[in-house]
Amino acid sequence: MASCIFILLISFIMMWNCLSSEAKVFMVLIDEEPVLSLKTEQVNIRNDRDAMVYKKKISIGHDIFLESLLQRGTYTKLYSYTHLLNGFAIHIESEEVLKIIQNATGVRAIHEDVKMEKLTTHTPQCLGLPAGVWQTLGGADNSGEGVVIGFIDTGINPEHPSFVNPYFRGTLKSGRFKGQCSIGERFPSTACNGKIVGAQYFARAAMAYGDFNSTRDFASPFDADGHGRQVIHTASTAAGNHHVPVTVNGFNYGYASGMAPGARIAVYKAVYTFGGYMSDVVAAVDQAVEDGVDIISLSVGPSAVPSGPSAFLNLLEMELLFATRAGVLVIQAAGNGGPSSSSILSFSPWITSIAASVTDRKYNNTIKLGNGQSFSGTGLAPPTAGRVHHLIAAAADASHRNTTAISVESCQHPEAFIRSLVRGKLIICTYTFDFEHDDAAIATVAENIKNIGAAGFILRMDPDIGSMPVKGTTMTLQVPGIILNNMQASMALWEYYDSNTIRSRCGRAVAFNAKARILDGRQAIYTGQAPVVASYSSRGPDVNNAHLQTADVLKPNILAPGSSIWAAWSPSSEGDPIIKGQNFALLSGTSMATPHIAGVAALIKHKHPKWSPAAITSAMMTTADVTDHFGSPIMAETTNELVHATPFDFGAGFVNPARAIDPGLVFNAHFHHYVQFLCAVPGVDDKSVRQAIGFGCPKKTGLWSSDLNTASITVSNLVGSRNIIRQVTNVGSANETYKVIVREPLGVEVAVMPKAFKIRGNSSRRLKIVIKAIEARRAYSFGEMVLQGQKQHTIRVPIAVYVSSSMRS
Ligand SMILES: *[C@@H]1O[C@H](CO)[C@@H](O)[C@H](O)[C@H]1NC(C)=O
Ligand SMILES: *[C@@H]1O[C@H](CO)[C@@H](O)[C@H](O)[C@H]1NC(C)=O
Ligand SMILES: *[C@@H]1O[C@H](CO)[C@@H](O)[C@H](O)[C@H]1NC(C)=O
Ligand SMILES: *[C@@H]1O[C@H](CO)[C@@H](O)[C@H](O)[C@H]1NC(C)=O
Ligand SMILES: *[C@@H]1O[C@H](CO)[C@@H](O)[C@H](O)[C@H]1NC(C)=O
Ligand SMILES: *[C@@H]1O[C@H](CO)[C@@H](O)[C@H](O)[C@H]1NC(C)=O
Repeated sequence: MASCIFILLISFIMMWNCLSSEAKVFMVLIDEEPVLSLKTEQVNIRNDRDAMVYKKKISIGHDIFLESLLQRGTYTKLYSYTHLLNGFAIHIESEEVLKIIQNATGVRAIHEDVKMEKLTTHTPQCLGLPAGVWQTLGGADNSGEGVVIGFIDTGINPEHPSFVNPYFRGTLKSGRFKGQCSIGERFPSTACNGKIVGAQYFARAAMAYGDFNSTRDFASPFDADGHGRQVIHTASTAAGNHHVPVTVNGFNYGYASGMAPGARIAVYKAVYTFGGYMSDVVAAVDQAVEDGVDIISLSVGPSAVPSGPSAFLNLLEMELLFATRAGVLVIQAAGNGGPSSSSILSFSPWITSIAASVTDRKYNNTIKLGNGQSFSGTGLAPPTAGRVHHLIAAAADASHRNTTAISVESCQHPEAFIRSLVRGKLIICTYTFDFEHDDAAIATVAENIKNIGAAGFILRMDPDIGSMPVKGTTMTLQVPGIILNNMQASMALWEYYDSNTIRSRCGRAVAFNAKARILDGRQAIYTGQAPVVASYSSRGPDVNNAHLQTADVLKPNILAPGSSIWAAWSPSSEGDPIIKGQNFALLSGTSMATPHIAGVAALIKHKHPKWSPAAITSAMMTTADVTDHFGSPIMAETTNELVHATPFDFGAGFVNPARAIDPGLVFNAHFHHYVQFLCAVPGVDDKSVRQAIGFGCPKKTGLWSSDLNTASITVSNLVGSRNIIRQVTNVGSANETYKVIVREPLGVEVAVMPKAFKIRGNSSRRLKIVIKAIEARRAYSFGEMVLQGQKQHTIRVPIAVYVSSSMRS
């Protein structure tokens, strides 16, 4: 017996060993320049032909390097990265091979591949776009013309009406964009129609790890997922056609428009039903920048703060820094880890990180009982037939008695109903744990109600369970229905029903007399407070490393609508049963907010094609609103209450496109400023910078990381006082005089020099900001610096300070 256990144990250990040495993917950086560096420095590369030749040379160089080093058959090269980074992704099966690569000369850094997460959760009118900005850009259909937004996401469904090309736009005027369209499963050559200008997919790591399922994930740019925010949804928000009817189950919910209907879409599918791998995402970004996209919209991020000396040095962040160097603006979802502090999953100052707000559109349904009572609930559902009341029957009272083994109250089992009893009645279904475990439970209720010929359903809460946030309340229903997600209403309904139902001595319902009608739940109501930061939206302060040491960087950067966004959806999507089969869906998440900003950025880029990524971000940030529709300070949802939002909830505030297009002043920054920033980050030394970007830090500059010229000021560790330099650039052509207004954070004094200044058109000047600690509060406190121009430009710069000590020791 003992020996038997022993043997089992040994074989278990052997199996574990064999699993642990299982195939892995590594990203290896080579100590040679990528195409972009040589192009920027004009070394050997003067035109696109030179670039192609050099790209081939790099790729062949990787092959030769590997062949000379490793035995054939012990590895597979998945990608050569050539444009932003010089390196490759390699799939290997043993530790030995890794050791050989680690030992080889010319290798700068090796990163093991990591899984990435889709940043999901669980509108144009509202931003004032149609009247304002679109007009100045030549009308809705032209707005964003010439700008290409690259989506690193789950693919696209080219047949969707938001992406058909109604007036065949023809090729892009600039001719700068060189993206390809990969033809493949469900993705014909006609899919790239002028609206969609590029579509490719990157799945080699997903395949190497065995996570790619070809029947589910499609080896083509086709969107198979749909778990939340995916490209079809995000792309339609940023750049969908103007005025496409949102018709679901035959009901017109209004019209959908992208933020920049004239912008073009290029899709780089690198995220799948299970998520994705960094090496695929890195390949997608490399290709997108090489193709010439103007803006990258990233709805994926790491699942946790990366390890290493600093989150800013992680391979993807570095690649995105090089993308910024190439003039590409990178927009990334902040993450959906809110409302906990430091839940942000988008770290670097060269990336624009987007928080999500709840909008003022609410759907609210009403049930009117026969006794005159009425209750409100949710349910995007049609009304019950006629203006008459319908008899009510509880599911358990209208089911066969031989079904005790299954729970009939939840209405998940159509076979349990007694057809003659349910026909034409409103059925009371009860919330059970079935609804927790099955995202499609509400869809199943609606389908069963339809099939058994009932008039509709009322989903009530169970007093034993309590009120629950019911999943799927934003799905559109084909049958009348209301979700009474409120214990009081649920109990009142039950009391009314029970007292009007006649029962036999053994408790069996024999006559039903309770009646009700359900009103139309599909009419949107635009009242209430908005915008409000959504509870799920990830919060700052930004973190520098996995120890959650905070950084001198404001995150998130800006707030945009993210909850209950109507946007295009792929009817064949496999990912989310709640909305399967629909052309449009209401979704929530910071990845729903991200494309709003990508679209607004496209409008700015259209108007100001030469602006740097930093200037565009600055324009959006300095002009953002910090008050809501009522003129009160924007609030933030926490788990159970509303509190005043801080810059760690909403960055600079809620995006205001009309003002962002004409900001007056911007805070600009370029590649070498970001390198200076990196070199000033605590814990980052010359060696780690060299490993990450290929060259080391400039000579001692005496700069702090808070000196990076951003449209925000964050000091995470203030001891005594700190002098901060900002440089503003007048992007208007006229001279303007500004005066400086400061609202000091608690516990510090802020002095800005000068207090007023005149700035000529097209020129820059410096401001010196002295922040002095008065009191150590052991918490961040917030203030702002406002530059008020005499020509109606107002530049608002949030200030966040953590005073560690008021004294210099
Ligand atoms: C690494 O390189 C050293 C010196 O070049 C050599 O002695 C050693 O065997 C190498 N190790 C591997 C695993 O190749
Ligand atoms: C692949 O996906 C299909 C469709 O969703 C599913 O039926 C099948 O079980 C999956 N295969 C694997 C190996 O997971
Ligand atoms: C729903 O609408 C009704 C009628 O317009 C209103 O009385 C009720 O307060 C609303 N309920 C909610 C939760 O907004
Ligand atoms: C329950 O009884 C009905 C009719 O008496 C029958 O049609 C049904 O199949 C039965 N269900 C079960 C689970 O036995
Ligand atoms: C702007 O200011 C400069 C010097 O301060 C002056 O020479 C110039 O005429 C001004 N331009 C306009 C348009 O007022
Ligand atoms: C600023 O630049 C614009 C466009 O290049 C030009 O029209 C304008 O005259 C310039 N303004 C000043 C004050 O130099």
